[in-house]
Amino acid sequence: MDPRRNPSIAEWFHEETKYSPQSMGLLPRPDVDQRPLPYKEWHASEPVDLVPYLPFPGFPLGPSEDQRPLDSALLSEFVGALSRILYFTGGVTGIQQSPEESWLFRAAPSAGALYPTDITLALRGIRGIEDGLHAYSVPNHQLVSVLEGDFLPGIASSFWDHPSFDGVQAVVLLSGVWQRSRWRYHDRAYRRILLDTGHVLGNLVHAAQQEGLQAIPLAGFDDPALQKLMFLDSEQEGVLVGVPLRRADDVSTAADGLVAAVKRSSRSTAPPDFETDPILAIHESSSMIHDAEVALPPDPPTWAEGAADARVVPLVETLGDISNEFPRIVVRRRSTRQFTGASVNRRDLDRVLDFAHRYATPGPVRYLSARPALQIHLVVNRVKGLEPGVWRYLPDEHQLRLIRSGDERRRVHGACLGQELARDAACLVVYSADLPHAVEVWGDRAYRYLHLDAGFLGQQLNLACIHQELGVSGVAGFFDDTWNEILELPADHAITYITAIGDPFASE
Ligand SMILES: Cc1cc2nc3c(=O)[nH]c(=O)nc-3n(C[C@H](O)[C@H](O)[C@H](O)COP(=O)(O)O)c2cc1C
Repeated sequence: MDPRRNPSIAEWFHEETKYSPQSMGLLPRPDVDQRPLPYKEWHASEPVDLVPYLPFPGFPLGPSEDQRPLDSALLSEFVGALSRILYFTGGVTGIQQSPEESWLFRAAPSAGALYPTDITLALRGIRGIEDGLHAYSVPNHQLVSVLEGDFLPGIASSFWDHPSFDGVQAVVLLSGVWQRSRWRYHDRAYRRILLDTGHVLGNLVHAAQQEGLQAIPLAGFDDPALQKLMFLDSEQEGVLVGVPLRRADDVSTAADGLVAAVKRSSRSTAPPDFETDPILAIHESSSMIHDAEVALPPDPPTWAEGAADARVVPLVETLGDISNEFPRIVVRRRSTRQFTGASVNRRDLDRVLDFAHRYATPGPVRYLSARPALQIHLVVNRVKGLEPGVWRYLPDEHQLRLIRSGDERRRVHGACLGQELARDAACLVVYSADLPHAVEVWGDRAYRYLHLDAGFLGQQLNLACIHQELGVSGVAGFFDDTWNEILELPADHAITYITAIGDPFASE
């Protein structure tokens, strides 16, 4: 950090939560007896049973004996769409049974399989279901009424009456439960909660599209108002994204209005006092208030373009639309635990990069909050037709620019805490950002946007890799400063997320 200026809390938090070879040994081991449940346990005598609407039979956990689900004959057809959207966004897609307990794996990956992201629906005017807030009960795939009443006007108001709320019947609210991830990852959990939530969002946009709906993710809102409305205790959990679901044929370009005026949170200057919990400090300092300041839209990125004679490789293959296959990809998806170390084809990589980054390019609806601020690098270990080394990917041009050639496997192995995944991957995709600059634009809120967006893109990489039959895994455990050195980035740039791509062992 530049010693001549006071760092914002976003920069302070990032610095505080960096892993380094010295700090790693100091982190306490998680207490296995205190491991939090990866979902809230909801019980309702009359839940909405969502299982019958799934496109396959045999979901293992249905209603319990004392439950009388609402009569499906009286429910709107829209409930079927909601069932499938919830399932393919964050439902249970795998169970691992051990003699002592069973582990549930979900549609979206999650750091440490801790699943800190909860899904709540705000519903209105759906036949057979009370207007109100409904929790998604994960293990038995049910909707459980939490609060009755018409919450949509209040929710819309906390998003400054964004036009995409007009007339909607369903809004998805994604919130992070701090302790679920903090239990293992301590203060750095906040980064992973944002990344995880970005992954969930990455599924949601496809799951909604499958049902003829457009998901419109909005990460800028009046936090205190929304938390109060939902009766959430900010010390425990916080809403991170709100997503109105509109009929796809009813999306106006006005829905994209948010990009015209960017609201920002404060840019705090003093670090929180010693006693303050860092997660609460960053979450609060990145909160917006009702009369949040409006900033100019961000400048285009001002990255140095590198040497004029830098080697440029235009990528050729593209991968436009995988929507027909999305449900099958999600149920088949698992993070790769081990790569063989063999190379992958550049054509596959071209397609994965194209899908992940160009899909999220501004169209009628923007999925990302801070897209121009994210820089994309590739460390190529073994890709047929591409020199090993460090590259930058320019999504608009679908082009790679060589920064430095050479075998980086030993270095990236160490920089990812000695995880063999990094060494044996064919390549690593790394997102980073000029954090001080991003904070100048969005205030401390930038910290949320940069990590949510990186998680969203990480999920697109995951989906495209599964489509191309490549192995893939997120990597959020790394030595930050070593990565700045590998990528030749200034010390104040934040490395937000890494995705490892490669040849999986056949059993994966
Ligand atoms: C944000 C994020 C960070 C992750 N970091 C790592 C990591 O550093 N090392 C690793 O082996 N797996 C990592 N994973 C993969 C998770 O361990 C995996 O998603 C989780 O165990 C659930 O399994 P599944 O993805 O196969 O459903 C990460 C996943 C996410 C979403």
